[in-house]
Amino acid sequence: MNGFKEIGYKEFKINPFDLKHKWMLITAEKEGKVNTMTASWGGFGVLWNKEVVFVVIRPQRYTKEFVDAATSFSLTFFNKEYQKELGYLGKVSGRDEDKITKSGFTIAHEDGIPYFTEANAVLFVKKLYIQQLAPEFFLDSKIDKTWYPENDHHYLYVAEVHKIFKSTEGESFIF
Ligand SMILES: Cc1cc2nc3c(=O)[nH]c(=O)nc-3n(C[C@H](O)[C@H](O)[C@H](O)COP(=O)(O)O)c2cc1C
Repeated sequence: MNGFKEIGYKEFKINPFDLKHKWMLITAEKEGKVNTMTASWGGFGVLWNKEVVFVVIRPQRYTKEFVDAATSFSLTFFNKEYQKELGYLGKVSGRDEDKITKSGFTIAHEDGIPYFTEANAVLFVKKLYIQQLAPEFFLDSKIDKTWYPENDHHYLYVAEVHKIFKSTEGESFIF
Protein backbone atom coordinates (compact mmCIF):
# COMPACT_ATOMS: atom_id res chain seq x y z
CA MET A 1 0.00 0.00 0.00
CA ASN A 2 1.70 3.13 -1.28
CA GLY A 3 1.81 5.95 1.26
CA PHE A 4 0.91 3.64 4.17
CA LYS A 5 2.81 1.64 6.74
CA GLU A 6 1.41 -1.50 8.36
CA ILE A 7 1.38 -1.38 12.15
CA GLY A 8 0.33 -3.65 15.00
CA TYR A 9 -2.72 -3.11 17.16
CA LYS A 10 -0.41 -2.36 20.12
CA GLU A 11 0.35 1.00 18.49
CA PHE A 12 -3.30 1.98 18.83
CA LYS A 13 -3.74 5.03 21.05
CA ILE A 14 -7.34 5.76 20.29
CA ASN A 15 -9.72 7.25 22.76
CA PRO A 16 -12.73 5.13 21.75
CA PHE A 17 -15.11 7.93 22.66
CA ASP A 18 -13.54 10.25 20.07
CA LEU A 19 -15.48 8.50 17.33
CA LYS A 20 -18.50 10.56 18.24
CA HIS A 21 -16.81 13.60 16.73
CA LYS A 22 -14.33 12.00 14.38
CA TRP A 23 -16.09 9.88 11.86
CA MET A 24 -15.07 6.92 9.76
CA LEU A 25 -16.11 5.33 6.50
CA ILE A 26 -17.37 1.75 6.26
CA THR A 27 -16.53 0.48 2.78
CA ALA A 28 -17.18 -2.84 1.05
CA GLU A 29 -17.40 -4.34 -2.40
CA LYS A 30 -20.08 -6.41 -4.09
CA GLU A 31 -19.82 -7.82 -7.60
CA GLY A 32 -17.05 -5.39 -8.54
CA LYS A 33 -18.89 -2.30 -7.24
CA VAL A 34 -17.82 -0.38 -4.13
CA ASN A 35 -20.04 1.54 -1.72
CA THR A 36 -19.27 3.47 1.41
CA MET A 37 -21.02 5.30 4.23
CA THR A 38 -20.02 7.51 7.11
CA ALA A 39 -20.36 6.11 10.62
CA SER A 40 -19.67 7.44 14.08
CA TRP A 41 -21.14 4.72 16.24
CA GLY A 42 -19.07 1.67 16.99
CA GLY A 43 -16.12 0.53 19.02
CA PHE A 44 -12.90 -1.36 19.38
CA GLY A 45 -12.18 -4.13 21.84
CA VAL A 46 -11.67 -7.79 22.52
CA LEU A 47 -14.15 -10.58 21.99
CA TRP A 48 -13.57 -14.32 21.71
CA ASN A 49 -9.90 -13.51 22.40
CA LYS A 50 -9.65 -11.57 19.16
CA GLU A 51 -9.07 -7.90 18.47
CA VAL A 52 -12.39 -6.74 17.10
CA VAL A 53 -14.38 -3.74 15.98
CA PHE A 54 -18.12 -3.42 16.12
CA VAL A 55 -20.23 -1.20 13.92
CA VAL A 56 -23.97 -0.75 13.56
CA ILE A 57 -25.72 -0.40 10.21
CA ARG A 58 -29.39 0.35 9.64
CA PRO A 59 -31.27 -2.03 7.33
CA GLN A 60 -32.00 0.63 4.69
CA ARG A 61 -28.36 1.55 4.07
CA TYR A 62 -27.13 0.61 0.61
CA THR A 63 -23.73 -0.11 2.19
CA LYS A 64 -25.33 -2.93 4.17
CA GLU A 65 -25.84 -4.90 0.94
CA PHE A 66 -22.12 -4.55 0.22
CA VAL A 67 -20.98 -5.45 3.74
CA ASP A 68 -23.32 -8.46 3.72
CA ALA A 69 -21.98 -9.69 0.38
CA ALA A 70 -18.33 -9.40 1.41
CA THR A 71 -16.25 -11.49 3.81
CA SER A 72 -14.24 -8.44 4.84
CA PHE A 73 -14.58 -4.67 4.72
CA SER A 74 -12.55 -1.60 5.62
CA LEU A 75 -12.85 1.21 8.13
CA THR A 76 -11.06 4.39 7.10
CA PHE A 77 -10.26 7.44 9.20
CA PHE A 78 -9.48 10.92 7.86
CA ASN A 79 -7.97 14.25 8.79
CA LYS A 80 -10.25 17.17 9.54
CA GLU A 81 -9.81 18.56 6.03
CA TYR A 82 -12.07 15.77 4.72
CA GLN A 83 -14.99 16.45 7.07
CA LYS A 84 -17.05 17.89 4.22
CA GLU A 85 -16.64 14.74 2.13
CA LEU A 86 -17.54 12.54 5.11
CA GLY A 87 -20.64 14.68 5.68
CA TYR A 88 -21.67 14.16 2.05
CA LEU A 89 -21.02 10.40 2.11
CA GLY A 90 -23.11 10.21 5.27
CA LYS A 91 -26.07 12.07 3.80
CA VAL A 92 -26.47 10.79 0.26
CA SER A 93 -27.06 7.14 -0.67
CA GLY A 94 -25.00 5.30 -3.24
CA ARG A 95 -28.36 4.13 -4.57
CA ASP A 96 -29.10 7.67 -5.74
CA GLU A 97 -25.74 9.10 -6.75
CA ASP A 98 -22.28 7.99 -7.76
CA LYS A 99 -21.20 9.48 -4.47
CA ILE A 100 -17.68 8.08 -4.32
CA THR A 101 -16.76 9.68 -7.65
CA LYS A 102 -18.41 12.93 -6.55
CA SER A 103 -16.56 12.91 -3.23
CA GLY A 104 -13.25 12.89 -5.10
CA PHE A 105 -11.96 9.99 -2.97
CA THR A 106 -9.75 7.40 -4.66
CA ILE A 107 -10.54 3.71 -4.26
CA ALA A 108 -7.65 1.26 -3.88
CA HIS A 109 -7.60 -2.37 -2.75
CA GLU A 110 -5.62 -4.45 -0.30
CA ASP A 111 -6.24 -8.21 -0.45
CA GLY A 112 -9.28 -7.42 -2.58
CA ILE A 113 -10.79 -5.13 0.08
CA PRO A 114 -11.55 -1.54 -0.97
CA TYR A 115 -10.31 1.53 0.94
CA PHE A 116 -9.55 5.17 0.20
CA THR A 117 -6.02 6.42 -0.40
CA GLU A 118 -6.88 9.81 1.21
CA ALA A 119 -7.35 8.12 4.62
CA ASN A 120 -4.88 8.63 7.44
CA ALA A 121 -5.61 5.18 8.88
CA VAL A 122 -7.17 2.02 7.48
CA LEU A 123 -8.40 -1.08 9.28
CA PHE A 124 -9.18 -4.22 7.32
CA VAL A 125 -11.64 -6.36 9.20
CA LYS A 126 -13.26 -9.76 8.71
CA LYS A 127 -16.89 -10.30 9.69
CA LEU A 128 -17.47 -12.64 12.61
CA TYR A 129 -20.99 -11.97 13.83
CA ILE A 130 -24.16 -10.16 12.68
CA GLN A 131 -27.34 -9.61 14.64
CA GLN A 132 -30.13 -7.09 14.42
CA LEU A 133 -30.91 -5.17 17.60
CA ALA A 134 -34.43 -5.98 18.80
CA PRO A 135 -36.96 -3.95 20.82
CA GLU A 136 -37.48 -6.63 23.44
CA PHE A 137 -33.86 -6.47 24.59
CA PHE A 138 -33.78 -2.78 25.47
CA LEU A 139 -33.72 -2.38 29.23
CA ASP A 140 -34.44 1.31 28.80
CA SER A 141 -37.34 1.58 26.35
CA LYS A 142 -36.58 5.28 25.92
CA ILE A 143 -33.54 4.38 23.82
CA ASP A 144 -35.66 2.22 21.56
CA LYS A 145 -38.30 4.95 21.20
CA THR A 146 -35.75 7.70 20.62
CA TRP A 147 -33.60 5.97 18.05
CA TYR A 148 -35.97 3.58 16.33
CA PRO A 149 -39.36 5.29 15.87
CA GLU A 150 -39.47 3.71 12.41
CA ASN A 151 -38.52 0.28 13.69
CA ASP A 152 -35.34 0.30 11.60
CA HIS A 153 -33.14 -1.29 14.22
CA HIS A 154 -29.45 -1.38 13.47
CA TYR A 155 -27.66 -4.57 12.60
CA LEU A 156 -24.66 -5.08 14.83
CA TYR A 157 -21.52 -6.34 13.07
CA VAL A 158 -18.58 -7.69 15.02
CA ALA A 159 -15.49 -8.03 12.86
CA GLU A 160 -11.95 -9.17 13.54
CA VAL A 161 -9.15 -6.68 12.90
CA HIS A 162 -6.80 -8.26 10.37
CA LYS A 163 -4.56 -5.45 9.18
CA ILE A 164 -3.98 -1.88 10.32
CA PHE A 165 -2.29 0.74 8.17
CA LYS A 166 -1.23 4.23 9.03
CA SER A 167 -0.55 6.95 6.48
CA THR A 168 3.11 7.88 6.28
CA GLU A 169 2.04 11.53 6.00
CA GLY A 170 0.42 13.44 8.83
CA GLU A 171 -1.22 12.36 12.04
CA SER A 172 -4.21 10.18 12.84
CA PHE A 173 -6.33 10.35 15.97
CA ILE A 174 -6.26 6.58 16.34
CA PHE A 175 -2.47 6.27 16.77
C1 LIG B 1 -21.67 11.47 11.32
C2 LIG B 1 -22.54 10.38 10.76
C3 LIG B 1 -22.55 9.16 11.38
C4 LIG B 1 -23.36 8.11 10.89
N1 LIG B 1 -23.33 6.91 11.52
C5 LIG B 1 -24.10 5.89 11.04
C6 LIG B 1 -24.06 4.61 11.65
O1 LIG B 1 -23.28 4.36 12.59
N2 LIG B 1 -24.88 3.65 11.17
C7 LIG B 1 -25.74 3.87 10.10
O2 LIG B 1 -26.47 2.97 9.69
N3 LIG B 1 -25.77 5.08 9.48
C8 LIG B 1 -24.96 6.09 9.92
N4 LIG B 1 -24.97 7.30 9.28
C9 LIG B 1 -25.85 7.50 8.12
C10 LIG B 1 -25.27 6.98 6.80
O3 LIG B 1 -23.93 7.34 6.63
C11 LIG B 1 -26.09 7.59 5.64
O4 LIG B 1 -27.44 7.22 5.75
C12 LIG B 1 -25.55 7.26 4.27
O5 LIG B 1 -26.10 8.17 3.34
C13 LIG B 1 -25.84 5.84 3.84
O6 LIG B 1 -25.38 5.69 2.52
P1 LIG B 1 -25.68 4.38 1.65
O7 LIG B 1 -27.18 4.28 1.49
O8 LIG B 1 -24.96 4.64 0.36
O9 LIG B 1 -25.14 3.22 2.42
C14 LIG B 1 -24.17 8.33 9.75
C15 LIG B 1 -24.15 9.59 9.10
C16 LIG B 1 -23.31 10.59 9.60
C17 LIG B 1 -23.27 11.93 8.89
